Amino acid sequence: MKKVLVLFAHPSFNRSVANKALLATLRQMEGVTIHDLYQQYPSMFIDPAREQRLLREHDIIVFQHPFYWYSSPAILKEWMDQVLEYGFAFGPEGRALHGKLLLSVITTGGSRESYDPHGHNRHPITDYLLPFKQSAWLCGMHWLPPFVVYAYHSLSDGEHLPVVTRQLRQLLLALQEDRLTLAQCQQAHTLTDLLEVL
Ligand SMILES: Cc1cc2nc3c(=O)[nH]c(=O)nc-3n(C[C@H](O)[C@H](O)[C@H](O)COP(=O)(O)O)c2cc1C
Repeated sequence: MKKVLVLFAHPSFNRSVANKALLATLRQMEGVTIHDLYQQYPSMFIDPAREQRLLREHDIIVFQHPFYWYSSPAILKEWMDQVLEYGFAFGPEGRALHGKLLLSVITTGGSRESYDPHGHNRHPITDYLLPFKQSAWLCGMHWLPPFVVYAYHSLSDGEHLPVVTRQLRQLLLALQEDRLTLAQCQQAHTLTDLLEVL
């Protein structure tokens, strides 16, 4: 079974609803390590050697965070700057991440419709994730379609968060157990689209 490392980035976790629910689900899963970056590095001084050790020990790397200014909260960018070094993550000798999977698990304030050419965010969420996708490619990783929870707060259905947390568990377990192929993943816009093939 594949080992999962969740790099979690939320600067105000005490006020979180969506990420808190997702994280609670991930915590209960076997083979999943939760690594809360703001908790581990409150002053943002990241330890690259420790992070690189963690990366080597896992097969699926998850970036979980709320969407902030069409990207991640700052600590995840700092983590990338410090940890994904030449000679480790890229370059002729930098093969430590080759073949690993990279999955973004994201919550947004904007609705699904807003991330549409006619919506006020004007572009699909995957366009905004291009720097993550290309970074994965540079590191020899397989970039997976993201798991996105759109605008959970505007939905009146109180069952919504339990439904999406269940979907995340189902999809991540399928990835851990190799029940989803890379070809299937590459064809999907978001990971949720793959529920129908499970
Ligand atoms: C500083 C900041 C920037 C944000 N930028 C975006 C954004 O670019 N797009 C978007 O859809 N939502 C944006 N939001 C809304 C958050 O993504 C949303 O509140 C969060 O995903 C909800 O998850 P939580 O309950 O775990 O905090 C932003 C919120 C903050 C505080």
